[in-house]
Amino acid sequence: MMLFSCVILQIFIGHSFADSIEPLLLDANITKGDNVTLSCEYSLTSGTSVYLQWYRQYPRTKPEFLIFVTEYSNSSEPDLRLFSNASKHLKRVDLLLSSAAVSDSAVYYCALQPTVTQTQQTS
Ligand SMILES: *[C@@H]1O[C@H](CO)[C@@H](O)[C@H](O)[C@H]1NC(C)=O
Ligand SMILES: *[C@@H]1O[C@H](CO)[C@@H](O)[C@H](O)[C@H]1NC(C)=O
Ligand SMILES: *[C@@H]1O[C@H](CO)[C@@H](O)[C@H](O)[C@H]1NC(C)=O
Ligand SMILES: *[C@@H]1O[C@H](CO)[C@@H](O)[C@H](O)[C@H]1NC(C)=O
Repeated sequence: MMLFSCVILQIFIGHSFADSIEPLLLDANITKGDNVTLSCEYSLTSGTSVYLQWYRQYPRTKPEFLIFVTEYSNSSEPDLRLFSNASKHLKRVDLLLSSAAVSDSAVYYCALQPTVTQTQQTS
């Protein structure tokens, strides 16, 4: 059995203070070899697109960046057995870890970094 925790890490940029992200699963015991899905739900103020990131942290170490995803692209890190996707419709980001190993037991963070959409300048 391994313990996975999904914790929230919020990154606020500019004036987007209404944006937020929250984990759906707080902790889970996983059996070695299982596929694990960690999910976070987020909300965005209008006019922003989003850059969703996953980090993991082992005890007494700094969080390490794993993968990022947007609502418009899936991403995968085969070396880390990770896949991530986000749904613009559901406002949910998933991290799929396949064949969990004991070494994957850590605290996982989802982070949201909104990018303010530039308004077109006319002169
Ligand atoms: C995971 O297992 C530990 C020890 O067996 C237990 O204390 C904990 O409550 C379990 N957590 C969940 C989410 O099942
Ligand atoms: C885990 O996911 C992989 C593909 O990512 C799949 O081939 C495999 O059958 C899945 N294993 C389980 C136990 O669901
Ligand atoms: C993401 O992957 C799913 C299948 O897993 C596919 O249906 C979807 O088109 C992909 N989206 C993008 C933006 O590549
Ligand atoms: C991510 O992809 C998986 C498998 O294709 C799918 O079951 C899941 O609903 C997708 N998650 C999101 C947030 O779109």
